Amino acid sequence: MNKRVEIALNEQIRKEASSSQYYLAMASWAENNGLNGTAKFMYAHSDEERFHMLKLIKFVNERGGKAEIPSVEQPPKDFDHLEKVFELLLEHEISVTESINELVDICLQEKDYTTHNFVQWYVSEQLEEEALARSVLDKLRLIGGDKGGMYMFDRDLETAAAAKDTSGTNP
Ligand code: FEO
Repeated sequence: MNKRVEIALNEQIRKEASSSQYYLAMASWAENNGLNGTAKFMYAHSDEERFHMLKLIKFVNERGGKAEIPSVEQPPKDFDHLEKVFELLLEHEISVTESINELVDICLQEKDYTTHNFVQWYVSEQLEEEALARSVLDKLRLIGGDKGGMYMFDRDLETAAAAKDTSGTNP
């Protein structure tokens, strides 16, 4: 496997692992703040990020590279409020999209079309994840702290989490 591509893929493995931990911290915070639907959504999202990581690990190893299992930095223990959580989530997804784009760029520079093809799955996934984070944030801003609205919002996220669960998370 091309060395530069291997390094970039390992960097992406680290980012996906760190995303998984980050969303796990958000899930735990939500659970401790009575937002059970949001917690389920974040637990499912954390699992998805682990799936993204595993898919990369398997690809690197199958292509003759060496996947490195990273240590990850400690995510925040506390968040100010729910809107802030989703702002951070969107910010984080935007940074992941940037790193996926960089990966695509490296594949093209190194003429590694197989990895380029593999990475396209992540390009589409990022489009979806950013769109979802934006729509959730828009809803939250619309609700503006209204208690009845928040109750409905949390229930809606529980439904969204159930849909995620049935989509499967095995690489
Ligand atoms: Fe795997 Fe949400 O980036």
